Amino acid sequence: MAKTTFFFTFLTLLISITSSSNPNPNPTKSPSLTTTTAHSVLTHHGFPIGLLPTGVFTYNLNTTTGEFSVDLGTPCRLILPPDNYLATYSKKVTGKIVENRIAELKGIRVRAFFQWWGITGIKINGDDLVFEVGMVTAKYPVKNFDESPQCEGKKHSP
Ligand SMILES: *[C@@H]1O[C@H](CO)[C@@H](O)[C@H](O)[C@H]1NC(C)=O
Repeated sequence: MAKTTFFFTFLTLLISITSSSNPNPNPTKSPSLTTTTAHSVLTHHGFPIGLLPTGVFTYNLNTTTGEFSVDLGTPCRLILPPDNYLATYSKKVTGKIVENRIAELKGIRVRAFFQWWGITGIKINGDDLVFEVGMVTAKYPVKNFDESPQCEGKKHSP
């Protein structure tokens, strides 16, 4: 019960990441211009691009098995202003993508209640995205993930 309550809380903040990207925080740089073919791998499998931040460096996809790895160049951190929650994408995010399902996901975490929680899988169920953290799941409308969020505090090597 407590676990479920927690999970809904932190998914709410995942939603707030994407919501806060909607007003276009950086007018000089349209998110759609910085997305890559890695994002089209998502759309080809039924997923919205908002699951990946902008600025993908490289990616690999094994089209036979669906195994993928996405290299963001540096770890990506998204700060959630209202409650100071963090979500992070590791430099390298890996998993297995098939139609409407991402499994064995590694590299996406949300910090809440003084711990990091890894998102282990994501499914499409009708108009909803179903997020999995171990055995716990929660769903949110796909339309909340229409735009790629931008990393904050991203460090660039000189
Ligand atoms: C895809 O994965 C399969 C199974 O691991 C492997 O045999 C195959 O060589 C891989 N293909 C590519 C292009 O890496």
